[in-house]
Order: sequence, then C-alpha cells, then structure tokens
Amino acid sequence: METIKELDQYMCTPTDKLLNDISKIDGDIMVLGAGGKMGPTLCKLAINAIKQSGISKKIIAVSRFSNDEHASDLQSHGIDVIKADLLEEEQLQALPEVPNIIYLVGRKFGTSDDQSLTWAMNAYLPGRVAEKFKNSRIVVFSTGNVYPFVPITDGGCNESDPVGPVGIYAQTCLGRENIFRYFSNKYKTKMLLFRLNYAIDLRYGVLLEIGKAVYNKKPLNITSSNVNVIWQGDANEIAIRSLLHCDYPLDILNVTGKEILRVKDLANLFGKHFGIEPIFEGEESKQCLLSNSSKCEKIYGRNQTSVETMISLIANWISKDGQTIDKPTHFQERKGDF
Ligand SMILES: NC(=O)c1ccc[n+]([C@@H]2O[C@H](COP(=O)([O-])OP(=O)(O)OC[C@H]3O[C@@H](n4cnc5c(N)ncnc54)[C@H](OP(=O)(O)O)[C@@H]3O)[C@@H](O)[C@H]2O)c1
Repeated sequence: METIKELDQYMCTPTDKLLNDISKIDGDIMVLGAGGKMGPTLCKLAINAIKQSGISKKIIAVSRFSNDEHASDLQSHGIDVIKADLLEEEQLQALPEVPNIIYLVGRKFGTSDDQSLTWAMNAYLPGRVAEKFKNSRIVVFSTGNVYPFVPITDGGCNESDPVGPVGIYAQTCLGRENIFRYFSNKYKTKMLLFRLNYAIDLRYGVLLEIGKAVYNKKPLNITSSNVNVIWQGDANEIAIRSLLHCDYPLDILNVTGKEILRVKDLANLFGKHFGIEPIFEGEESKQCLLSNSSKCEKIYGRNQTSVETMISLIANWISKDGQTIDKPTHFQERKGDF
C-alpha cells in the first residue's frame, strides 16, 4: 500500500457485518466533526456500505472544514457536506434534523494553552448538541483517557471501573461524557459513549510514531510502557454499527484492540522490518492508560486488522516516505498535559 487512494480503498471497504447492519439503521446519518483525522474515512466507509447495499440513505458530513480538500473529497464520494462552526449557535440550529448522529468533535492539542476553549469545546458544546439532537440516536466519541493509569498486569479498565482523568484534556472529556449523559437522562435520548484508545492510520498514530523513531534512529521514550491500539477502519466500522446499540439509559463501550502491547516489543518489530536496532530512553512504567475491550469484541466480533498487519503496512509507508498528518498523539505524556 503506497498511496492515499490505496489506503482509502483498504480502510473504507465495508465488511459483511457492516453491510448487514447499515440497512438496519433507520434514516440518514450526520457526522459532526467530520473534517478531522477519522471523519473523512468514517464517512467514506459509511457511504460505500450504503452504495454496496443498494439502500437509500444520506451521509451528511459537518465540520468547519479547516482543510478544504476534505470537503471536496467527501462531496466527490456522494457525501453531503455542510460547513459549520458548531460553537456558533445559529449555525448549529440551522442543521437539519436527522435520526442518527456520530459526534467526533473534540479538542486535544493546546488544551493547556487555552483551557477555556477546551472546556467550551469538550464540555459546553456537547450540551448544545444534545439539546439540538434530543430526538436522535447519538454515538458520542470519548476516550480511554477518562480512566486512571492502572497496573499493566491487570488487563486494562472495564467500562464499569471508576474513572480518574489525569490532566485538563481528560477532565474535559469526562465533562463531555457527563453532559451528554445529563441530556440523555433529561430527554431519554438514546446514546452510546464510545471510549476509544489510539486509532491507527498510516498517516498518524502511536505505531507511526514508534516506527518513525526507529527508522530515524531517534531515541524512543518508553516511560508509557504499554498501549492499546485499533486500526482506524475497525474503529470507524464499530462507530457506525454502534448506532444500533444506542440506548436509554446510555451504554459505555471501550473501543480498542484486545492486546495490551509493550512499546519496546512494537519498536523491536519495526526494527526487524527496517534492519535497525531501536534506541530506547526512559524507564518503563508499571502503570499505564489501558482499556479492556472484551465487551466490544463480544458485541462486534474480532477486529479485522491485526497489529502485525498494521506494523507491516506502516513500516512500508515510512520507508516509502508516505504522506503523514502532523498531529502527534503524545502517548508518552504522563501528566495529561497536551
Ligand atoms: N484519533 C484517535 O486516536 C482518538 C483516540 C481517542 C479518542 N478520540 C476522539 O475521537 C474523536 C475523533 O477523533 P479524531 O482523531 O478524528 O479527532 P480530530 O482530528 O480532532 O477531529 C475532530 C474534528 O472536529 C472538527 N471541529 C472542531 N471544532 C469544531 C467546531 N467548532 N465546529 C465544527 N467542527 C469542529 C475539526 O475539524 P474542522 O477543523 O474541519 O472543523 C476537528 O478536526 C475526537 O473527539 C477524539 O477526542 C480519538
């Protein structure tokens, strides 16, 4: 896989399970915050599933579209595009009513520089959106960052474990969850809180960062010794299918890979691909941010793309100097300061 077109083809090809589920989702689907890292491929996966199933359903992508290319690309795939700043009340209220919402909006980077904007984006806007779409089903993207660091030997946090957000970003994400929960309770809106841990694309993500450090012979910080990851295509598919699992009272779902992966092992696998010995720095911590995805696997089955496949695709992408998105995950951050 060497081009964005090939990557799109791989990531946006629906599985039989998605084809089966898409026709059960009643009505159009609106994706809010569609202009970021995940939105474009999520929308294209959904529209491909609709086309292949021969059903009639609109995908409506809403974002400010700071990157105009995303808007025209989505339109060329038959996706309806609405440019809107959701923090502007008039623009939010002008959006059409739809039965299904996938909510991707969030602010991570610069959270510590302008905390008021982060709180507005992550915890105030959810209230405005939940009021506007109180009659819709809503899949609310959240993050495993709402959990505390836990021992790496404990199998990761379950959905019923206590939250313990570290730092402002994680606190505002817990705010996002609770504001949606408040309005779900108020209006009996069917929702699902989608706690995602590290989506993997060839253009960004934890594995790309590890692979690039090895390839460029740069020291890799291993303080955050263990991680969970999931192929972005798998996460997108689960998000669309989760519209069928929105409920009142709302449910919570950890969405990530099954394995708790040691960063050192991942670096060594990249090292084998490149024929380069990784350089490590820092001391491996015994506590990390880890989620347990057993519930997700029980509902949706095994993820399609294995860690080995992701590493091999990314190693090839790095060595071919494939296009990347400059949005580092900061997965080594231990104080939640993004
Ligand atoms: N990717 C991951 O590995 C990961 C892991 C854990 C959790 N998550 C969560 O999953 C969600 C989606 O992930 P992502 O990586 O796609 O996030 P992302 O790259 O930050 O995309 C979200 C997009 O929302 C749009 N947006 C922001 N403010 C807006 C506003 N006022 N009005 C309209 N649109 C606005 C932005 O695009 P425009 O500039 O076009 O408006 C932004 O790029 C996020 O909430 C994130 O917290 C992601």
